[in-house]
Amino acid sequence: MVTTLHEPRWSDLETKGYVIVPKFLQDEELLRTREDFSQLPRHPNQIYPVFESSRDRLGPIAEKAESVAARVRGHTRFRVDLFVSAIYFSTSAGVDFKWHQDHESYFIHQNHLDYLNFYVPIVKPDKTRSGLAIVPFDAVLEKYPSSMPQIYGKGARRYFPRGKLTLVVDDSTDDDSLLLGFNLEELAIAPELEAGDLLLMRGDMIHRTQDADTPRVSLSMRMTHGDGLIRRDTFQAGGENKHRAIAANPTLYGDVSLALERSPRGELTNVELVKILRTPPT
Ligand SMILES: [Fe+2]
Repeated sequence: MVTTLHEPRWSDLETKGYVIVPKFLQDEELLRTREDFSQLPRHPNQIYPVFESSRDRLGPIAEKAESVAARVRGHTRFRVDLFVSAIYFSTSAGVDFKWHQDHESYFIHQNHLDYLNFYVPIVKPDKTRSGLAIVPFDAVLEKYPSSMPQIYGKGARRYFPRGKLTLVVDDSTDDDSLLLGFNLEELAIAPELEAGDLLLMRGDMIHRTQDADTPRVSLSMRMTHGDGLIRRDTFQAGGENKHRAIAANPTLYGDVSLALERSPRGELTNVELVKILRTPPT
């Protein structure tokens, strides 16, 4: 139960963008996730290696994430009450992401503030390696406050540190003209994480794989706001990069696209979408 956990300062999600919960998973829960991972086929995603689980497969572990989300709702303004997905990332399978804000969640759910990534390493030989590097929002606010509006709440972007600047490519619009006035690496940290520790991050955290030098597997559970709206116009809008990414991942985006096309309102709530995706076709 979540009441046995060390109680973190949940409001850090508003200021820093992340919170760490040590020993989020107990040993038997870690074994359950490792067994779950070992049974999964690689997802037919043509962009990067991923192994897809689900709320039902994870059972009590997903419920534990939902308990954390309830604590977050009680202590922040973030409305996060709907479990949407669970995936595993493995460095041994080839995961080595460069600096980015997530794409899929932003394209589909369209709101990276009411959105949480429960990142839990389940295999991690070294607590100081092969986790995530992140850029805390409070560090940006303190040293480069004028850059905050350029990154806060954003998504579907890649970041390229160059000298004293960082180039930004917005994959929603193909805009590559934005430059941040600092090098992301200057502010980056890589929190020490052991297997079972939780790094809870807002959807708009800028992050990358710390390194892919050790065989690390992480579970990433995602939650968002059930009543949040997904708009068809927003999903269909965008440039070549977005449409190429959507075309390259029909397993993920195909059903979302169809559900939005069929919606007479031109929009769906997250609850409605998740229900449609969980209902097998008749
Ligand atoms: Fe990511």
